[in-house]
Amino acid sequence: MERTLIIVKPDAVQRGLTGEIIKRFEQRGLKIVGMKLLQVSRELAEKHYDVHRERPFFTSLVEYITSAPVVAVALEGSDAIVAARSTIGATNPSEAAAGTIRGDYALEIGRNLVHGSDSVENGEIEVANFFTEAELCGGWTRDVDGWVFE
Ligand code: RTP
Ligand code: MG
Repeated sequence: MERTLIIVKPDAVQRGLTGEIIKRFEQRGLKIVGMKLLQVSRELAEKHYDVHRERPFFTSLVEYITSAPVVAVALEGSDAIVAARSTIGATNPSEAAAGTIRGDYALEIGRNLVHGSDSVENGEIEVANFFTEAELCGGWTRDVDGWVFE
């Protein structure tokens, strides 16, 4: 099973879209193994987006993700990384397919509502950056698992 870190970004929380966004991953079959509301610190934001440190949008990206509370969600499932990113849609919402979260609810790249890990390795790293082991319910058995995972 893969793990991915989903962040319901500040714009999504402010717009009251938290439930709508989490619902889409949940109904897809991905299993919630951790979830919390938090205000991202500058330190955590810079660590999370370290790969973009040299990009021109880095400062505004850190300001955006630290601007208001977010909801961090750790999800588990087969092919969780690719599945979550296809549910999220293209980085630039104006290019995101209808039916994806960004395609249905967003217009601009700097207000694109949700983050999803981009590789199996980064999924593990990002979940560990946002959650302590004690905050995760890693081993819980969901009764419908046999109807979602073959
Ligand atoms: P995320 O990491 O937030 O899930 O988004 P992503 O993988 O689809 O996109 P990524 O390339 O990792 O970029 C991270 C976030 O930086 C902002 N961005 N702005 N102005 C720009 O050209 C630009 N490019 C990226 C977006 O908020 C993007 O989600
Ligand atoms: Mg990314």
